[in-house]
Order: sequence, then C-alpha cells, then structure tokens
Amino acid sequence: PKPCEVTPAIIMKSYACQRRTPLKHHNSFLTEPLEILAENAEFSENEGRSLAFRRSAAVLKALPRAVRAMDELKDLPCLGEHSLRVIKEILEDGASSEVESTRQSEQFQAMKALTGVFGVGVRTADRWFREGLRSPLDLIHTGQKLNHAQQAGVQHYNDLNTPVTKKEATVISDIVERAVKAVLPGAIIILTGGFRRGKEVGHDVDFLITHPEEGAEERLMPKIVNWLDEQGLLLYQKTTRNSYLESKEGPARPPSNMDRFERCFSIFKLEQTKVNSDTQVEASSYNSSTTDRTEEYHSGSTWRAVRVDLVVSPYSQFAFATLGWTGSKLFERELRRWAGQEKGMSLSSHALYDSKQQRYLQANSEEEIFTHLGLEYIPPSERNA
Ligand code: GTP
Ligand code: MN
Ligand code: MN
Repeated sequence: PKPCEVTPAIIMKSYACQRRTPLKHHNSFLTEPLEILAENAEFSENEGRSLAFRRSAAVLKALPRAVRAMDELKDLPCLGEHSLRVIKEILEDGASSEVESTRQSEQFQAMKALTGVFGVGVRTADRWFREGLRSPLDLIHTGQKLNHAQQAGVQHYNDLNTPVTKKEATVISDIVERAVKAVLPGAIIILTGGFRRGKEVGHDVDFLITHPEEGAEERLMPKIVNWLDEQGLLLYQKTTRNSYLESKEGPARPPSNMDRFERCFSIFKLEQTKVNSDTQVEASSYNSSTTDRTEEYHSGSTWRAVRVDLVVSPYSQFAFATLGWTGSKLFERELRRWAGQEKGMSLSSHALYDSKQQRYLQANSEEEIFTHLGLEYIPPSERNA
C-alpha cells in the first residue's frame, strides 16, 4: 500500500488509567463474552482470573475500531492466553463455546439471580446454591433467614433489577438536593458513579456531598436521612458512620479498598406520576408485592424502588472522594495499581500518600490528582474501562 494508506499503529498503554475508554465502543461482541467469564470467576471467588478478563475487555473497549482478525491484537497489552483463545473462537465461529456453556449453566444463572438480590454477596449466594436454592423465590419458599437489607432486596427484586434511567436519576438528584439544602445550606452535591461517566442507565444513583466549611459536614447523614424519611421517600436505608472521626491514625495508609466516609445505602420510593399506558400499569402491578402499592395504584399514582448511594466527605478530601466514587471499578483499581507500582504512592478515596517524600499530597481537583500521579487527565466520560 501507499504510505498514506498504512494504518497507523495503535499505541495502547497498559494501565486503564493511562487510556481513554469511552462508553460506546466498537467491540461489545468481544467484551461482553469476556465479561461473562470475569463475572463467573467472581462467582467462584477467583479474583485474579476475573481481573485478567476485565483487563482484556478494557483494552478492547479502548480500540478505535472493531477487531476483525487476530493479527490486529499482536501489539496490545493485557491480552492473556485464555482471553486470546476466547477472542479467536468468536472471530472464527461467531461465539465461544466456553462462554455459551457458562451462560447456560445452572450455577451461573443461579448465582446471577441470587447475587442480584440487594444485600446478597457471592459467599451467601454460593452457600444457598450448594443448599439447592436457585432464585429469590426459593428464598421465600424455603423460609431462609434474611437480614433487613436482603428482605428489602427480595421485596423489591424486580424494581431493583430494572435499570435506572437518566431521567429517574435527575428526579432523584432534585430530591437529594432539596433534602441536603434543607438540613445544611451551602452544601455541595454531585452525581458520581456511572451517571457522571455519561451512562444512560445504572443499577443505582450515586451522590457525593460536602460543605466548603471543613467540619460542617460532620454527622450530616442522619439529618439527610431523617428529612427523606419524614417525606416518606425511603423504603430502606443503612447509614454507616464515618469511622475516620473515631480513629486517630489519620488518612488510611496504605489505603484499603473500603473507605471510611459517612455513607448510606438506601432504597428510594420514587413516585411515578404519569401512568399513561396500560402496559405501564400492568408492569407495575405485576411488580407489586405489597398492599401498599395496590392502594397507590388504585389512587391513580404509582411508585417504584430505586437504589441510591449517598456519601459525605470533608471538603479537604472532596477531590479524592470524587475521583474514587466516579469509577469505573476497573479504572479505580488501575489508578491505585499505577500509584503503588509505578509511583510508590498510595491512593484512596481520602488521600494520596507519597512514600518517597513520606507525606500526603493535597489536591483541590481531580486534575491535580492526575498531575501528582504523572498521568494525563482523563475526563469522567473516558473512564469507562
Ligand atoms: P452502576 O451503578 O452499575 O451503573 O455503575 P457504577 O459505576 O455507578 O457502580 P457503583 O454504583 O457500584 O459504584 C460507583 C463507584 O463507587 C465505583 O467507582 C466504585 O468503585 C465506587 N465504590 C462503590 N463502593 C465503594 C466503597 O465501598 N468504597 C469506595 N471507596 N468506593 C466504592
Ligand atoms: Mn452506580
Ligand atoms: Mn453505587
């Protein structure tokens, strides 16, 4: 080919936090199967294997075009032997036998259904699976002992497994804004998680709250929760206090995966004012498991359950919290791995510690954190690794 027709080599950096990963990409036909295998590895608590599949998928998400042949992959990082085998099979046969048999397997389907219950992790789901349980209905029929979160999870199973739309997220943003402003004027609220990355739908809606006056945010969560509860907007909530205030050691070092912010896992009762089609009414009455909802339906209004996460951060940590709660999960993991392995630093949602200088590096924005880490700034919409 003439020189101008030569396809330029793709330079793919090996850490996901060094690359731009848009939400919409060209290789879903490969990344979805690889993520099935990642999920299946998580179900058997094989973290290393899961991470390997997720990293492979993330590399393919960052490619500027669809993969057509194996030789296009030869200079790409992170693609292990197993992933390459799966990709090859899909390119040649249109599907991977391993992925398809995983998808069809009773264990995968049961684990998916059981971990799909809010409050149920892999350990619990696996125990139930080994006891012969396969679905949320089995939990009810066999009278399993459930904690409060799991009870709410079973009760609102259909709603919570119905993706939250951007429109619903906006309505919830307005409610959260009203609640926070009512109990702490001057507070700042931002939408984090998948919606900040530009996702059209999510499994929940995530918020981060702070106040420019350091300390004004202390013990804020119970006030927000009370306000919401008084308005009848909460179906479930569990608030975890800021463990940070009680400990004297200062910001986590080395940072653990779990942070120590005051946070609230909740389920909102979201009014759906307009019911303009029969199918919509049918869908929501099919969902209903409480007499409460039947009454709402008869009175002409209806509602649905939506998962909402609220996190409160001190102003001095707000940039770290924003970065830490925006995701994606893999992008976050890769940021922390980069910090540790390449920079001798440790990054958490609270702080960045430089081991060489033996000091914390302050930041007032996400941009400053990327700069401290020696990384090019990646905007939220390109963190969809
Ligand atoms: P969907 O909600 O599925 O649409 O995607 P999402 O990216 O919003 O996922 P999720 O709501 O689960 O998490 C949002 C962000 O919060 C991700 O970056 C997670 O890594 C982060 N996150 C979730 N739980 C914790 C936690 O306990 N500690 C910290 N530090 N981060 C968390
Ligand atoms: Mn989310
Ligand atoms: Mn969340």
